[in-house]
Amino acid sequence: MIESTLNIPIEKTLNSKLPFFDFNNLQFGKNFSDHMFVIDFENGEWKNARIIPYQRFDLSPSSAVIHYGQSVFEGMKAYKNESGEVMLFRPTDNFKRLNKSAIRMCMPEVPEDLFMEGLIKLIQLDSDWIPSKAGQSLYIRPFLFATDEFIGVKPSETYRFAIITSPAGAYYSEPVKVLVETSYTRAVEGGIGYVKAAGNYGRSLYPAKKAQELGYHQLIWTDATEHKYIEESGTMNVLFVINDVLITPPVSTTILAGITRDSVLTLARDWGMKVEERKIKIDEIIDAFEKGTISDAFGTGTAATIAHISHIGYNGSDYLLPEVQTRKFSNKIKEELQKIRLAQAPDKHNWVLKIK
Ligand code: COI
Repeated sequence: MIESTLNIPIEKTLNSKLPFFDFNNLQFGKNFSDHMFVIDFENGEWKNARIIPYQRFDLSPSSAVIHYGQSVFEGMKAYKNESGEVMLFRPTDNFKRLNKSAIRMCMPEVPEDLFMEGLIKLIQLDSDWIPSKAGQSLYIRPFLFATDEFIGVKPSETYRFAIITSPAGAYYSEPVKVLVETSYTRAVEGGIGYVKAAGNYGRSLYPAKKAQELGYHQLIWTDATEHKYIEESGTMNVLFVINDVLITPPVSTTILAGITRDSVLTLARDWGMKVEERKIKIDEIIDAFEKGTISDAFGTGTAATIAHISHIGYNGSDYLLPEVQTRKFSNKIKEELQKIRLAQAPDKHNWVLKIK
């Protein structure tokens, strides 16, 4: 348990939306719980930490974030089990990745005590917003953005960090159809692909929209130079099981170091499975389809959790994965991860933080 040292003031809402909220119809990212955590960075220091009712920000039209995209974020989740216990999954890893993103985007790092205490107090206050049905959770969105009122191109001197939360169901409501993208590029070496910068997602919208028009849910990005090697999918890392080996591209400057990805690789290694983090040619995947050696393909992400891939589109053909019910690895890992998150399985790696 993290001791409170910061005494973050809390202003409670006088108009809770909770009594009117329908937990039976949860869509991802549409509804927000009653409160948010906010803190501002000015004159080289973080100040005015507060938990306040969820509300709009007052932003100047010249705010630096609007013009030059100094904006980074995280995605994490809180879970509630049948006994009413509340858990966060690997929050320290999200904290570290937020600051990795901040450094790359020339933004100030958020101190760990502020991040953790703001987060925990917010979750405690809005714990009734955490859904407890299978597949549901409270999605948590920490984000940091530039607030200088200045349109010269330079790092902002002022910032806001905030955390909002959103009761959520599945991000993908069915197995995902993905298209291998061989023209557009998500990230280049030396760029910002490895951090959670808002612009990485903005730039993916147009190619993803084109894929959606063709009936796919998402893209699988390929490398920027040759478009021959698999990178990641729009909202998740991608993993394959070929000849009983779990294979995924290595993290690099173009691929996000996913926390769910790392959890899956860690558990697979614990189970004695052969794991390879290496470059994967799209031709190797097509070859595995032709030989019948590919038994599983799935995406991993906080929002997506374990998202089974049903089809991979490439060069005008669709390659079909085996029926989801027959997939041993992804189903087993999905179940095990869920049990760990709900404190219903041993937490060997200390991933779970119980919130009292
Ligand atoms: C997440 O999985 O938390 C993400 O941030 C991906 C997406 C929803 C933007």
